Amino acid sequence: MSYVTLRTTTAQQRFSLVVRGEHRVIRDLLVLLARAFELRDTEGVRSIFGEFASFAGPHFRYEEEVLHPAFAGIFGPEYGDKLRVDHEVAITSAERLEELSEVEELTEDEVEEAVWLVHTILPHVSDFEGPGLIVELLNDETLESLLRAREAARRDGLDLLTWSAEVRGQ
Ligand SMILES: [Fe+2]
Repeated sequence: MSYVTLRTTTAQQRFSLVVRGEHRVIRDLLVLLARAFELRDTEGVRSIFGEFASFAGPHFRYEEEVLHPAFAGIFGPEYGDKLRVDHEVAITSAERLEELSEVEELTEDEVEEAVWLVHTILPHVSDFEGPGLIVELLNDETLESLLRAREAARRDGLDLLTWSAEVRGQ
């Protein structure tokens, strides 16, 4: 006999598929970005960084607007603060990566820095697998509002740095 009732709703399945799928895309773009820096492929760096920033903008936005508050309701406000700081680290790294993507002839130190910066963003995706389990505790109403916030963020289509500069925290 099981003491745990595992209830998986359609909203949970959709949400898990969507968020996990997006984390995979971000993960792959980051890995490609680090590789392009190592190869000093400046054109590749610019195009991959552009894709990353466009994709991560709406993603970070709906996570911050709806998912983080929902998680804070379960884990407590300190965890909510931690998630915000994690995003801040990722945004600060992305700002510097954008600068480095404009450099024509990257030095050894700059390549090393770029790879390090990518590594500071990667945990954003890998660390989600744990809290992702908590999604099962969120009710369908919250999950539906998360999916709606995602649609709205994607419609606005602000890249990570534009969203951070113009909308976030205002
Ligand atoms: Fe995320």
